[in-house]
Amino acid sequence: MANKVAESTSIDSVLHEDRKFECPESFSQQAHIPSLAEYDRIYRESVEEPEKFWGRIAGELHWFKKWDKVLEWNCPWAKWFVGGQINLSYNCLDRHVGTARKNKAAIIWESEPGEVRTLTYQQLHREVQKFANVLKSLGVQKGDRVAIYMGMTPELPVAMLACARIGATHTVVFGGFSSNALVDRIHDSQATTVITQDGSYRRGAEVKLFPAVEEALKSCPSVKNVVIYQRTGSAINTQPGRDHWWHDLMAKASDECPAEPLDAEHPLYILYTSGTTGKPKGLVHTTGGYAVGTYLTTKWVFDLKEEDTYWCTADIGWVTGHSYIVYGPLQNGAAVLMYEGAPNFPEPDRFWDIIDRHKVSILYTAPTAIRTFIKWGDQWPNKHKLDSLRLLGTVGEPINPEAWIWYHETIGHSRCPIVDTWWQTETGNMMLTPIPGAIATKPGSATKPFPGVVAEVVDIEGKPVPAGSGGFLIIRQPWPGMARTIYGDPERYKQQYWSQIPGTYFTGDGARKDKDGYFWVMGRVDDVINVSGHRLSTMEVESALVAHEAVAEAAVVGRPDDVKGQAISAFVTLEQGRKPTNELKEELRKWVAKEIGSLAKPDDIRFTDTLPKTRSGKIMRRLLRELATSGEVKGDTTTLEDFSVLAKLKDSDES
Ligand code: WTA
Repeated sequence: MANKVAESTSIDSVLHEDRKFECPESFSQQAHIPSLAEYDRIYRESVEEPEKFWGRIAGELHWFKKWDKVLEWNCPWAKWFVGGQINLSYNCLDRHVGTARKNKAAIIWESEPGEVRTLTYQQLHREVQKFANVLKSLGVQKGDRVAIYMGMTPELPVAMLACARIGATHTVVFGGFSSNALVDRIHDSQATTVITQDGSYRRGAEVKLFPAVEEALKSCPSVKNVVIYQRTGSAINTQPGRDHWWHDLMAKASDECPAEPLDAEHPLYILYTSGTTGKPKGLVHTTGGYAVGTYLTTKWVFDLKEEDTYWCTADIGWVTGHSYIVYGPLQNGAAVLMYEGAPNFPEPDRFWDIIDRHKVSILYTAPTAIRTFIKWGDQWPNKHKLDSLRLLGTVGEPINPEAWIWYHETIGHSRCPIVDTWWQTETGNMMLTPIPGAIATKPGSATKPFPGVVAEVVDIEGKPVPAGSGGFLIIRQPWPGMARTIYGDPERYKQQYWSQIPGTYFTGDGARKDKDGYFWVMGRVDDVINVSGHRLSTMEVESALVAHEAVAEAAVVGRPDDVKGQAISAFVTLEQGRKPTNELKEELRKWVAKEIGSLAKPDDIRFTDTLPKTRSGKIMRRLLRELATSGEVKGDTTTLEDFSVLAKLKDSDES
């Protein structure tokens, strides 16, 4: 495993980067953390006296009952704010409605067709209370799991906050996933209720959502009720007794539903992410620590101020949307812009148009989006002023320095600091990131650890590697926003994250630290690929392929892709008698899209009569990766590949 880091492909592109961007003076002067000295002082305190530090931050939130102890750490099991009682919906809403924020915009929503709807904190508070009563009327109780499968409409955060309000644990499933992915997640979480909508809009067309739920529920007996928000008005077949319209239930619901005091460790949500086996992992986030972690990172990393208009372009189906559209910004009383649709509808300048019209001041997006914008051409952003922007951010994958520079110049007009934030579904909140105003940036580096985060780059024995060398990125101490477990599988949580290098959190990413203490994250070291900033398990794509009747065996690898970060290459052996045709390739690609979602659709499929394996039978993905990357595949792509050369290497055991 140790040499897997060395084979990471992204290392070369960042290795020679030595440009450094100091914090603009004018930014530092007004920033929450105005200097490196101040960051250093806070960081030192946060790691020397973490309980004092986090206790002080937690004190900025509302607690029904104060905690007795800040941290109880029994590696890998953490309890934060032990004995405390809190409600995250209360902290996002009730805490503001008694202040001047009452009539401030909480969510400014723009639909893809172009309508704009604004919910003030008071209006959002009312909607959430009503929907919390709707959930109660359907028998949803504290501790029940509620699956949410929606598009980017304000009703999605309303549903999440309503769950949080009554202590139901939500599990949001990305609307781009197929009904099979929904089945897996509902089975695993044993959700009793599904909240969905008829459809959503994407690139001018309707994306149907309810039909996927309808299909999924054929094999999900745990689900008793479905609530459908009517967004597109297209015809659907509802099942009486089980399916209910959002608007019917809301019309009858009372608008008063006090937030339930919940134990700090009460599970707030489960979010599924890809692991290295076929079964997706449901990471469990709890209430108190997650509240504190998302609250503070939002405030400091975005240097959030009362007058900002903040826009995170992620989908709420991913952790970025949970932490930085919903829970972090709303706890801070921010005005959050939310957009429903595609960045190129009706034209490739939709984002820049939105920024100018709403005077967005903070933009948080993904490297894959930035690379797409570069491809579309500078004429699109150049049509717009973009002068309301003061801070830019990225997340999801390593950003290549050239894309960073383009973002800096073409979008930020060389005026806005960029925060390249490294974190994961598991970490709950940002971990390595510049704090703008305090930390100078280097293109391609997520710079330094956020206060309270003890990060290191180590070898497989856990020993720190010298500055400039590649190694595994680990975290040495617990932090409040960390996932507490894998739902229903604590052993897997322990194994996967806390046993690779005993006693430390293993991120699964390779990284190096330069002589200035800056971290450069190089990407995954395991069999997880990062497509457009979203982690996909190669195993999941493989199992989807193998589920097709024509496929005997499949191996899936990532190869570098200019726009998506990584593209998916699949190597497939067919069942006896099946012909390797172009039609079958297309059929398999569509099959995977149906099984998992179009994000997972292989970019290329190659038929082969054997896969290179180790003596222990493990597929040698490293070789396949090389083949997929260098493109050294001879002959017509529809013919079978000859792996006899690779097969000779099978004695060199990879494990
Ligand atoms: C990658 C998304 C480099 C990394 C919040 C990580 C990054 C995985 C960055 C988590 C970044 C995320 N620089 N790599 N700034 N941000 N990653 O769980 O490989 O969807 O482990 O969480 O994305 O993806 P996840």
